[in-house]
Amino acid sequence: MPLNPNELSEAVQPIHRARSMPAGFYTDPAIFAAEREALFLRHWFFLCRDEQLPNPGDYRAFDSPGGPIVALRGADGILRVFANYCRHRGSILLEGHGNTGAKVMCPYHAWSYLTDGRLYGCPDMKDAEGFDRRENGMVALDCQSWAGFVFARFTHEGPSLQEHLGDLPDRFASHKPQDMRCTWTVTLEPDCNWKLILENAMETYHTGIVHRDTVGAQTSRTLPTKGNWICIQVISGRSIATLSDSVPPFDKIEGLDDDARMGTYFTVALPTMQFAVAQDCLWWLNVTPISAGKSRLEIGGCFPKARLSQPDFEERAAPYYDRWEKVGREDVGILEKQQKALGSALYRPGPLSGRDDMVQALGVWVLDHLGLRPEG
Ligand code: FES
Ligand SMILES: [Fe+2]
Repeated sequence: MPLNPNELSEAVQPIHRARSMPAGFYTDPAIFAAEREALFLRHWFFLCRDEQLPNPGDYRAFDSPGGPIVALRGADGILRVFANYCRHRGSILLEGHGNTGAKVMCPYHAWSYLTDGRLYGCPDMKDAEGFDRRENGMVALDCQSWAGFVFARFTHEGPSLQEHLGDLPDRFASHKPQDMRCTWTVTLEPDCNWKLILENAMETYHTGIVHRDTVGAQTSRTLPTKGNWICIQVISGRSIATLSDSVPPFDKIEGLDDDARMGTYFTVALPTMQFAVAQDCLWWLNVTPISAGKSRLEIGGCFPKARLSQPDFEERAAPYYDRWEKVGREDVGILEKQQKALGSALYRPGPLSGRDDMVQALGVWVLDHLGLRPEG
């Protein structure tokens, strides 16, 4: 086992005597390979919002830990997710995003597929023995949505997305996420392990220091959850999704429940998706693990769809985009320093604060799923 058993056992102690995870948890390629098998290829992961592919033939290609995949809206209106390769000799079928029209055409030897994945055209295959075009369609992943958030999964086994998310949808019911629309995204490529990004958004210990010139010091409370997600709430009557005083924030969402009015929720929908849900909007941090020391981070922002038709929408939304990107870059800056230091030959896990409780919870969930949680 690549991780030191004593360090692992200290990492899972009750929070007031716990230490952080061993360095290898974040740096070891063997751990990353195990995570790929046990987490990334087995669990639901977020792709995009449903409204980002409004029309038949619309597609978006993604690089995932299981290789290239593509979300494609069929002529029947159904959104599907496929492994993004041709069944002939494996070329990538679609890149970036756009609209394929009625057929997906392979750029290599021009096999073509219908938008529901069935193989349509395959020139010069008449002599191929045993060849059956019905068995050579694009290979589908599982695809399910919650409130317009589209998730996919590489295996056809295991709990539904709804079962996986537990009571997350209940917690955010009064924000009416199904009525939100994505208006903005930005993608960063931090040189750090995927778990460092997720841990960072689950504690407010760092905010007064790393974000001293932006969001500043915050306090939070940990909320109980059922299912594969964890949650804190940053307490603030004012939306913390925008910092601008000169441009007023959007009105709060009508009908928020009592808890929701108290502040902004930060979550991890395990293993790799974060929802940040404020009184007036929500944004996500979607982490795609690339290697032990490299990740992709997409930040996306959503507002209630009624706001989009306000004449001053763009002007009012701009300070939100500015804040999301600025704070995201501040976090990436510190996480890259952390990743570098984890490579020290003399690195030993340090003691945790009570404010790191959800950092520990995230690590323990991962250990559990890797079968590495020490006994007792
Ligand atoms: S690889 Fe696609 S048609 Fe040959
Ligand atoms: Fe932060």
